[in-house]
Amino acid sequence: MLLSVRPSDLDAIRLDLSGKLVISVMAMVTSPELASRFRTRRVIRAMPNACAEKRLSFTPWLASQDATAEDCLFTERFFASSGEALRVGSEAELNYFTALTGSGPAFLAAFADAMIRSAIADGGIAPATAERAVGRLFLGGSTLLAEAEQTPAEIVETFVGYAGTTAAGLETMAAADIRTPIAKGLRAAAERAAAGHARRTT
Ligand SMILES: NC(=O)c1ccc[n+]([C@@H]2O[C@H](COP(=O)([O-])OP(=O)(O)OC[C@H]3O[C@@H](n4cnc5c(N)ncnc54)[C@H](OP(=O)(O)O)[C@@H]3O)[C@@H](O)[C@H]2O)c1
Repeated sequence: MLLSVRPSDLDAIRLDLSGKLVISVMAMVTSPELASRFRTRRVIRAMPNACAEKRLSFTPWLASQDATAEDCLFTERFFASSGEALRVGSEAELNYFTALTGSGPAFLAAFADAMIRSAIADGGIAPATAERAVGRLFLGGSTLLAEAEQTPAEIVETFVGYAGTTAAGLETMAAADIRTPIAKGLRAAAERAAAGHARRTT
């Protein structure tokens, strides 16, 4: 059984899945809670993201102790069919990934939106053109990142080293402490992911 309803709709699902494999992609619902609700100890929690529709999801998954080797193999293949799957070892890790890669596409959208707004306000670029340009930038930039031999940190360092236009932008962003709001946002999302049922209905 694959559970893919919104966490706030979980209470409406009344199923006895005794002994069956239950795979959940719901945020905020822990493996012990799933096991007790659905009366099975064969539980897998996974966290795909919206990129799955392009077969580009990064999908961490967590198996309960009683999930069989066959359950795990099925899960790995199932989620690998929509991108890259990775088995993780704890609820805490899965909760963090819920924020990092589960919510990640929306965070990238927020960054893109900030760039588009700047291009319109400071650069005088027409809104439709700014959206098109930033859309292509994210596609091209993320493809380069995915294939680069350097880490993102090394790429930033290389550009700072050139001391040109890009360095001026990067140094000003660093001086404005761009990392802190990003870290805070990820922490808030991870805390929400870990908060569980009590927070789902509030
Ligand atoms: N979207 C993502 O990128 C993403 C990524 C990772 C995890 N998730 C998780 O995936 C889950 C679903 O997200 P979503 O974005 O797909 O939400 P969604 O578009 O709202 O889809 C929820 C689905 O659940 C169905 N549903 C609701 N109550 C039901 C019930 N009582 N019995 C049977 N089906 C019921 C809905 O059917 P109707 O349309 O008929 O109401 C709908 O098809 C959430 O738990 C979310 O945390 C989503």
